[in-house]
Amino acid sequence: MTTSTSLSQDELKTLVGQAALQYVVRGEIVGVGTGSTVNKFIDALAGMKDEIKGAVSSSVASTERLKALGIPVFDANEVESLAVYIDGADEIDGKGHMVKGGGAALTREKIVAALASRFVCIADESKLVAALGKFPLPVEVIPMAAQHITRRFAAMGGTASLRLKDGQPLVTDNGQHILDVTGLSIQDPLAFESEINQWPGVVTVGVFAHQKASVCLLGTAQGVKTLAY
Ligand code: 5RP
Repeated sequence: MTTSTSLSQDELKTLVGQAALQYVVRGEIVGVGTGSTVNKFIDALAGMKDEIKGAVSSSVASTERLKALGIPVFDANEVESLAVYIDGADEIDGKGHMVKGGGAALTREKIVAALASRFVCIADESKLVAALGKFPLPVEVIPMAAQHITRRFAAMGGTASLRLKDGQPLVTDNGQHILDVTGLSIQDPLAFESEINQWPGVVTVGVFAHQKASVCLLGTAQGVKTLAY
């Protein structure tokens, strides 16, 4: 698809949300992520709800939106595998590695992505980076470990801040907290993800390298570009 006029970020999100429909397998259950870009996808998916069995969702927010549009939502435990998982990203590099968790749903996103054969990332071009690390890295943590994990990030040059909502620590759908870490240089996303995930008290680190994107539908001023990894 090509366009000549300049599009707003919101319009780019709508474009990629609609473009993702081509990856939805008819008659099957689709994995659905979280965020403003995914909301556009969910809205578009409603137009073909009679052609799919339903969805597995990565957050309470997406579940509510899916159900409100009449799309059946299955528990992740009810499915053995999914053909495709569609989700946004806060950053994506040239190899399909991502940083995710800006919407605090990273743990469930990784779980649903793990069920899927294919991860289709939908993003506007502001999310494309040469190397991960520009966007503050979200890390879901067990609250009692937050200070210990903060010190461990400091030892590697990072500054971790507890994410707040309405002046209080944000509580995730899993009842945990989020640290947002700045100042990191993520040279080897695979090794970084493996290392941080084994720190005691880390529920999930927001680097998605082991479950990277297979395809990215990138919204650009020239239309939707498909990047395959
Ligand atoms: C939620 C996420 C989102 O996919 C990510 O934050 C991108 O969101 P948006 O589409 O609103 O820019 O990881 O946890």
